[in-house]
Amino acid sequence: MSILLKDVHRAFGQNHVLRGLDLEVLDGETLSIIGFSGAGKSVILKHMVGLLRPDSGDVIVDGRNVSELDVGELNELRRDIGYVFQFAALFDSMNIAENVAMGLRRMPDMYDDEIMARVSECLALVDLEGTEDRYPSELSGGMVKRAGLARAIATKPKYLLYDEPTTGLDPVTVTVIDRLIVRMKEELGVTGVVITHDIASAYRISDRIVMLHEGRIRTSGTVDVIKESRDPLLRSFLEGRPELAERAS
Ligand SMILES: Nc1ncnc2c1ncn2[C@@H]1O[C@H](COP(=O)(O)OP(=O)(O)OP(=O)(O)O)[C@@H](O)[C@H]1O
Ligand SMILES: [Mg+2]
Repeated sequence: MSILLKDVHRAFGQNHVLRGLDLEVLDGETLSIIGFSGAGKSVILKHMVGLLRPDSGDVIVDGRNVSELDVGELNELRRDIGYVFQFAALFDSMNIAENVAMGLRRMPDMYDDEIMARVSECLALVDLEGTEDRYPSELSGGMVKRAGLARAIATKPKYLLYDEPTTGLDPVTVTVIDRLIVRMKEELGVTGVVITHDIASAYRISDRIVMLHEGRIRTSGTVDVIKESRDPLLRSFLEGRPELAERAS
């Protein structure tokens, strides 16, 4: 099943962030969202899990209209969605194993030793083996980030929403995370939405890339289409050249 946003508007006071956004994420694909800081990328992901609701328009995930779900139904939906928050969002009072196990604890029929085995497996996938007993404050920023990723994949969700999963990581770790995102898709059939400022990484992991600008999708396409696009605003973004954006309307 896919994710569909139809004519979504969302403002915060006078700040009209999403302005009639139409976006579809196809079943089994990895879609990357790029766009300038403050464009509303994180706001889009929060709509997909019902952390934010649209002022108007529809957000449909797995055939369910997220705005119409009650608390119970929303929790059920969230079991199918792994969310890697932009700022990790681990609980400081809990050790890494407990943080990663959070979603697993809510699953019926999972015994403690199974949970701990899965936690260790997920930590190994993000190169964090042996950190189970440590606390978030004892890890580096990049390690915390990867622990957030381990938590998101632990329940083997159908959807994975990654908000800047590689920002602030060293180049080798970026490659490890990129490969993990591709594996999630290829081995588990996960439908992925990735927000990233890392263009090289977006090219490696994406089936499609969309650029968000002024509350709507400005350009979208496969990696090849995006690479070849002559949209000056997109080029300005891809090449880090502000002067090109000035020529765009
Ligand atoms: N809960 C909120 N209350 C008020 N304003 C908000 C809220 N969440 C987001 N905004 C505003 O919405 C706009 C888009 O924010 P968002 O976090 O989606 O940007 P972004 O595209 O993810 O940027 P970045 O690349 O810097 O992470 C910003 O102007 C932000 O201040
Ligand atoms: Mg953001």
